[in-house]
Amino acid sequence: ARLVVLVSGSGTNLQALLDAAEDPAYGAAVVAVGADRPGITGLERAERAGVPTFVRRVQDFADRVEWDRSLTGAVAEHRPDLVVSAGFMKIVGKEFLARFGGRVVNTHPALLPSFPGAHGVRDALAYGAKVTGCTVHFVDDGVDTGPIIAQHVVDIHEDDTEEALHERIKTVEREALVHVVGRLAREGYRIEGRRVLVP
Ligand code: GRF
Repeated sequence: ARLVVLVSGSGTNLQALLDAAEDPAYGAAVVAVGADRPGITGLERAERAGVPTFVRRVQDFADRVEWDRSLTGAVAEHRPDLVVSAGFMKIVGKEFLARFGGRVVNTHPALLPSFPGAHGVRDALAYGAKVTGCTVHFVDDGVDTGPIIAQHVVDIHEDDTEEALHERIKTVEREALVHVVGRLAREGYRIEGRRVLVP
């Protein structure tokens, strides 16, 4: 399966997919990496792996619709079977979802539906939750609301900082993402309402 991965930061989830794809038996390869900003480590990781990259900055476009249209075109050029949003910090729009809906996987560092949005780790910590974790889900037209594919629990420690907790979550998150993407690529899947059925 052809994967296009979207990143906004360090790209450790991307790196895990790049490493997994080294094994031909994995059944998926990263064919391109897109970002919403230049100069991030995620893009360096792609370049180091010889994977084509593209950047689409919101501020370079008249509005979000134009940005979304351009992003959709840039992703479509690489003919993805699956689009993986791995730490991509923008909400994709209608055109993107019309083109790739049902084939966009996102990873979120909290146990959805708890703590959606851009600060899931900070919010769980601030709330005084005892456990949090990560969620791998399909992207729908909401924010972090699509059908859930996998979740893993991570304990919150008394003295946790947001960074320490996020690093612990990311260790589990990248394994979950690699496992899910591999299974979707090799086994195929069906989405029935809010249920994801992977044979
Ligand atoms: C991940 O925890 C992702 O869920 C969140 O930001 C982090 C990105 O990490 N949105 P990386 O860029 O993959 O290292």
